[in-house]
Amino acid sequence: TIERVIGREIIDSRGNPTVEAEVHLADKTVARGAAPSGASTGEFEALELRDNDEGRFGGKGVGQAVKNINTVIDQTLRGMDASDIYAVDQAMMRADGTKDKSKLGANAILAVSIACARAAAQALHLPLYRYLGGISGNRLPVPMMNILNGGAHAANTVDVQEFMIMPVGAVNFAEGLRWCTEVFHALAGLLRSRGLTTSVGDEGGFAPDLDSDEDAIRCILEAIEKAGYQPGVDFVLAMDAASSEWKSGDKGEYLLPKSQQRFTSAELVAHWQALCEKYPIYSIEDGLDEEDWEGWQMMTAALGDRVQLVGDDLFVTNTQRLKKGIELGCGNSILIKLNQVGSVSETLEAIKMAHEAGYTAIASHRSGETEDTTIADLAVALGTGQIKTGAPSRSERVAKYNQLLRIEEQLGESAVYPGFGAFHISR
Ligand code: PGA
Ligand code: ZN
Repeated sequence: TIERVIGREIIDSRGNPTVEAEVHLADKTVARGAAPSGASTGEFEALELRDNDEGRFGGKGVGQAVKNINTVIDQTLRGMDASDIYAVDQAMMRADGTKDKSKLGANAILAVSIACARAAAQALHLPLYRYLGGISGNRLPVPMMNILNGGAHAANTVDVQEFMIMPVGAVNFAEGLRWCTEVFHALAGLLRSRGLTTSVGDEGGFAPDLDSDEDAIRCILEAIEKAGYQPGVDFVLAMDAASSEWKSGDKGEYLLPKSQQRFTSAELVAHWQALCEKYPIYSIEDGLDEEDWEGWQMMTAALGDRVQLVGDDLFVTNTQRLKKGIELGCGNSILIKLNQVGSVSETLEAIKMAHEAGYTAIASHRSGETEDTTIADLAVALGTGQIKTGAPSRSERVAKYNQLLRIEEQLGESAVYPGFGAFHISR
């Protein structure tokens, strides 16, 4: 039984405030949860409540969200059973009363939702992945590791937000993670030898000034080989274009802010297609804008049988938008970010809907993160097979990888590492 819910303002990996919640149960169990925060946020995400008081944290304070936890949410949840996550989330949503959680704040509701799930697991003496996933939650994710950053996450010349490596040829998660770190170091050496910067972006990937997205891809392939691995066999590549950041103001036209290149939807699809034919790219996220449903249909028809087409800003972990996408034939995969929708139970529903439709689901961090490792457990619990949680150079990213190492060790023989199977949903 929930005895008390406490909110507090903590700091995220960008030095901005975010919400942490602490749930106390009658049996003395105490658990915490924290909300992450995006930079290239989708227009249709649940609302992150900020104070907009310029005198504190440049307006980014979350004092009101914290206050909502300490008052309305605390009163609403006292006496409820923390293990009934769906009921807990419903109660908070009723108290909020809006569609986008704008009254209490999705950051407030999510932090409490995570804390309740953790408290329930602890009270039952279960690891979080076991509590959320039951006895079938044993599939480790392949890292979709972002090692080169551009777009809104880096102050460089690269328009594509993320270039990622996936160690699909490894035998287990620990080996895959080791391979990734070796490639990360090889890439550092390669950039240094070219006189390029090895400073990192918000998600820990390098952020050098390169001439084009193709240049970035070539650097990464070279780093993979330099580390002793074979592109296309040991590693495949993934990209997040985050093209919702490329709005030009004209419908159906994209303007890349850094290179100033212009594309129509059809031209962008042709561009992605050419890259996928030339290089071992298996996954493209937000290749088109969050409102370009027709473009997504065209892209899915052209590439969907060979390439994982991931909707992040398009679907925003929202079952209504995902349902629309499934009906229209837009994409074949969904990025899963707890704070886009703002509760654990709605996140579980989005993953379930995706899997039922044959869409893959990818557990994901945000560019602003905390030490909270919930997404690691979520990935294993729901068997997403893939996780996006940045480069091995910032502790808020590394915390998730280290949690997965612990989970794999704990699962022992029953742990499954899907390799190339990550691109297929488990049944
Ligand atoms: P965000 O970026 O957390 O800044 O939204 C991550 C992503 O686009 O996948
Ligand atoms: Zn994205």
